Amino acid sequence: MSRIFVLFSVCTLAFLLLFQSVVVAEEFAGKPLHDKDCLKCHGVEMYSRDPLFVKSYRQLDAQVNACVKRNNIQWTEEQTEDVIDYLCDAFYGFE
Ligand code: HEC
Repeated sequence: MSRIFVLFSVCTLAFLLLFQSVVVAEEFAGKPLHDKDCLKCHGVEMYSRDPLFVKSYRQLDAQVNACVKRNNIQWTEEQTEDVIDYLCDAFYGFE
């Protein structure tokens, strides 16, 4: 009986750790991509300039996609989305 309990506890703990690392990886997935390809022309101060050109999540999506296309950056749709989410979390704060 106690052995099953230990096994159960270990599994739960392993699951929690795994889950946590997935969440963290998700949150920062866009940052290295962004820092590698997007800081050639402007720094991150672009994302808090006044007045901001981008005023909604949809505009941010459009702007990032435009910058990706214009600069011939080879990102998958998923990578582009990671960067949008990163900018959103770190600077813009859109829902
Ligand atoms: C070739 C130079 C260049 C590169 C590389 C570049 N950008 Fe830009 N970006 C600009 C310029 C210039 C502006 C300002 C456009 C304006 O004022 O209308 C801008 C504006 C922006 C804005 C709007 C800022 C605001 O006012 O809210 C965002 C967001 C943005 N860039 C994201 C990115 C992302 C993400 C990447 C990487 C994929 C990237 N940029 C790469 C030149 C670049």
